[in-house]
Amino acid sequence: MGKVGLGLAVGWAAATCAIAAVIVGRRVRRRREWRRVMAVVEELEEACSTPVGRLRQVVDAMAVEMHAGLASEGGSKLKMLITFVDRLPNGSEKDTYYALDLGGTYFRVLRVQLGGDRSGILRHDVERQPIPQHLMTSTSEDLFDFIASSLQEFVQKEEGVSEASTVKKRELGFTFSFPVKQTSVSSGILIKWTKGFAIEDMVGRDVSECLQQAMSKKGLNMRVAALVNDTVGTMALGHYHDKDTVAAVIIGTGTNACYWERADAIIKCQGLLTTSGGMVINMEWGNFWSTHLPRTSYDIELDVDSPNPNDQGFEKMISGMYLGDIVRRVILRMSQEADIFGPVSPKLSEPFILRTPLMAAMHEDNSSDLREVARILNEVLGIPDVPLKVRKLVVKVCDVVTQRAARLAAAGTVGILKKIGRDGRGGVTSGRIKGGSHSKMRRTAVAIEGGLYTSYSMFREYMNEAMTEILGEDISPYVILKITEDGSGIGAALLAATYSSPGVANVQLL
Ligand code: BGC
Repeated sequence: MGKVGLGLAVGWAAATCAIAAVIVGRRVRRRREWRRVMAVVEELEEACSTPVGRLRQVVDAMAVEMHAGLASEGGSKLKMLITFVDRLPNGSEKDTYYALDLGGTYFRVLRVQLGGDRSGILRHDVERQPIPQHLMTSTSEDLFDFIASSLQEFVQKEEGVSEASTVKKRELGFTFSFPVKQTSVSSGILIKWTKGFAIEDMVGRDVSECLQQAMSKKGLNMRVAALVNDTVGTMALGHYHDKDTVAAVIIGTGTNACYWERADAIIKCQGLLTTSGGMVINMEWGNFWSTHLPRTSYDIELDVDSPNPNDQGFEKMISGMYLGDIVRRVILRMSQEADIFGPVSPKLSEPFILRTPLMAAMHEDNSSDLREVARILNEVLGIPDVPLKVRKLVVKVCDVVTQRAARLAAAGTVGILKKIGRDGRGGVTSGRIKGGSHSKMRRTAVAIEGGLYTSYSMFREYMNEAMTEILGEDISPYVILKITEDGSGIGAALLAATYSSPGVANVQLL
């Protein structure tokens, strides 16, 4: 080999070594980055873990806070609001009633025909439309004018234009799904907004009065006969169909629960007299808090960035308004830790860009190559060409966040059952009954509504599974979570029927 040949050979070898070094270096770097990303996911999993022991602590905390909220005004983060609903519809309700349902992503108008004599609901018509985004932060006048217009159009369509102006006064059930301090069964004052609504001039004002004024402006002859929370509407319909219904839970854009309480247990309303001896309590459990809740750095950041920091802590871990955004925050962190997603997409920093239904679609993607995950990452988050192994990691993140939410919702529900002694263990004050406790257990139904539970099967499965885990195999068959479709709206119409006769002074606050 001549000098030239030798030089070429040495050069070749050096180049090969350099290339090999680059390849090895890249592999090492990739492996290191993968480990960092895995650490993000593992850390999330650890922080979100909800073993049954922890869930039982949440159950206990919920029951204790319920007691505290009933004992005194401001005694707990749980408001435990009285609703003035001391009777639930029983099947004798007759005639046609309207309902308005405001509080989730959609706004609904309903017309419900009731047969009376236990013949049930003869017919119900529903129209739903998304709430224009700008109205959520505009003025109360804009919002209520929009509601009244939609109602007027609906009435005209249902009854015919000529009839609409001549028909006798109609009765309306108004489902307004925000914390309201009721002053009667048909009136109440808005305490605060949740779920992204922020219309400052509304806080502290009577909700029914605002609607009544907007309806008069339009010449609509209608009276608000019942002002209810969506949980209360759902409970009314649940109970109408199943007398064993003792509570209702909503898991949709927001989350909350209500239940039937004995009047004498509502200590903060001393001398509360109701004909039935009980009343529905709107818990506003979205604001529940306990140190036992598994909180992550993502929850803390989400809370700080929200318009209502330190508020609605339970809701921010559970409901549809927030789950997608928790997942977005985790993907952003993964992307910052390593370039497995390529350069950090600016879209990842946009709050609420990953809506919960999209997150659910990724979670439930059954295709072998996770096509839907790839599509959403690309089209919504601006991250193209994500390898399969990374897509799998994204599905894992959705799973962890959803599982925690569903299990906490289950713990909250069992907390209510514990408070009223329907958890098979004799209630929070009476201690545990050893052995054979289920012989005392009565069939117990909980009405449940909200898109997260009804349309997201993984959420539903996780929640049902956790209910069984917490209650135990012997008690859980007695407890039924019953989907109550359109319950919030139909239930409001039923309550309008129950409370429509003027002068039924059912509740006395002495
Ligand atoms: C509201 C509740 C409501 C729940 C479900 C929460 O944000 O505060 O009043 O029942 O959402 O819609």
